[in-house]
Amino acid sequence: MIKIIPTDGPMGAEVLGLDPRLPIQADDLTRLNAAFVDRQVLLFRDAPLSAQQLVQFSRNFGELQTHIAKRYQHPEVPEVVLNTNLDDQGNYDKLGADRGVGWHSDLPYQQVPAKATLLHATAVPSSGGNTAFANMVMAYEAMPATLKARIDGKFSLFKLGGRHQLTQGVLQDPSKVPRAIHPAIRTHPETGRKSVYINPYHTDSIIGLSRSDSDALLDEVFDWCMRPEFQWQQVWRVADTVIWENRSAWHSGQQDYPPLEARRFLRTTIRGTPTVEEPMLAQLATQIH
Ligand SMILES: [Fe+2]
Repeated sequence: MIKIIPTDGPMGAEVLGLDPRLPIQADDLTRLNAAFVDRQVLLFRDAPLSAQQLVQFSRNFGELQTHIAKRYQHPEVPEVVLNTNLDDQGNYDKLGADRGVGWHSDLPYQQVPAKATLLHATAVPSSGGNTAFANMVMAYEAMPATLKARIDGKFSLFKLGGRHQLTQGVLQDPSKVPRAIHPAIRTHPETGRKSVYINPYHTDSIIGLSRSDSDALLDEVFDWCMRPEFQWQQVWRVADTVIWENRSAWHSGQQDYPPLEARRFLRTTIRGTPTVEEPMLAQLATQIH
């Protein structure tokens, strides 16, 4: 019988009594899924996983979505991305170390964005390097009514690296920056709850506003959403596995650890569902330039 222990923060729960290397019973999986959408981050400790075992475990939560950036793809298991701050010789890999730093959700620059991401720690530094999470359901529900009225009902253009072009060097062909359109405030497909979906890293603009009005509104929403009361941090141990929500939460790796100490993860991504129906999508696409 599994136990689900919520953290004392606004999100996150640890799952006890479940071995991610073994098949999961149907009633346990039902409870896991309910806890996942409620707490947005689930933690499983003390179970080292191979890349293939992480893939098997991840499939309990949906179909895997292979990442568009091939540079850090696992050589034998294409569904797995290697997250590392050091290269094969142990030298600092700035591109690798910078990935995932800054508030974002995963793959919002694809028209079918990610439902969830799993990260499995294989090396952690002696201090720092937490992953911070922020609860965007809470941020939306607590948002001042005047700000809510300005952002609700809007659609956004998302691009890899967003309006500040933060991911240079990740793409093989930098002229083809992936982009997608999603609602700024998203309704969760399972819970029906609304949350802030735009994020500081991958959002380019609010469709229908001038660049300056869009920038001002994004800055104001992001300032609100970054308030500490919406946040919780995962303090990593080797052999931890975490699954997080990309539909209703942000995350950000913390770069406050000794840079030459290894911080390494195996990662998988679970495919989500479309956020905008045709023909609305086609109509919105005519408004971007
Ligand atoms: Fe991420």
